[in-house]
Amino acid sequence: MSYTTLITSLNNSIFTITINRPEKLNALNSVVLAELELAIEEIYTNASIKSAIITGTGPKAFVAGADIAAFSDLTKTEAINLSKRGQDIFSKIENSTKPIIAAVNGFALGGGCELAMACHFRIAAENAKFGQPEINLGIVPGYGGTQRLTKLIGKGRAIELLISGIMIDAHTALQYGLVNYVVPQELLMDKAISILTVINTKAPIAISECIQCANAAENNAIDGYTVENNAFGECFDTADRKEGTLAFLEKRTPKFIGK
Ligand code: COA
Repeated sequence: MSYTTLITSLNNSIFTITINRPEKLNALNSVVLAELELAIEEIYTNASIKSAIITGTGPKAFVAGADIAAFSDLTKTEAINLSKRGQDIFSKIENSTKPIIAAVNGFALGGGCELAMACHFRIAAENAKFGQPEINLGIVPGYGGTQRLTKLIGKGRAIELLISGIMIDAHTALQYGLVNYVVPQELLMDKAISILTVINTKAPIAISECIQCANAAENNAIDGYTVENNAFGECFDTADRKEGTLAFLEKRTPKFIGK
């Protein structure tokens, strides 16, 4: 599939989505959002893809936010619909059964921070900056940011970022638990690929169940422990569970097949 605002590639079962509007610091307009949705769909449906990385073109920005130009004449109803659309697309990332990680190569502001937070985890380049500057526009984040930021870094820190609009640097993001690693920019993609290369050797059904269990831990409407009971049972029904336990007993590396 070819896109106008994304560059995609598939190497060694790792799908890379690069948001490619560098002249606008990779801001998310309606075309980027629509193409991102299609690319996520590709992750869901293409059996050759085991995991994915989302990043941005250039040394300056991951994504500098939703495209502010599109906000100028939105009505209240249109704004609610845009927020729902952004939330739906980002929820597809969060609920993907295949791991999707963010390689944050610069500014991750507004919708960019929200996009990174929808991913299963984040790696930051040393020059990355995170923030929810919507308050400076007189609005709130609309693509899940108020919820995910609070869950990821806690209420006090989240409210400070949300209502001050200040940016935090990569090392503060690491200290807050917003990112898992901070690496020099030139090593960012290598780090993302090396982590996913390890993950891609694991049993796909167990990976998917782990993601669903972790997501359930953040959902007040369901009992995560029950989700875990079921996930544990589901795994015991798989050929990969038999292979994993047998390989351990035979002192060899397991070969998982995703069944
Ligand atoms: N929406 C639309 N355009 C954006 C954008 C956004 N979120 N962020 C940056 N751009 C555009 C700028 O308008 C500029 O376009 P131009 O060259 O046609 O004027 C281009 O990207 C470069 O940005 P610029 O502001 O000149 O770069 P900078 O290095 O001076 O500042 C930022 C970088 C990220 C601090 C600044 O661009 C910024 O504050 N962006 C908006 C962040 C934001 O509020 N995001 C939340 C939106 S809800």
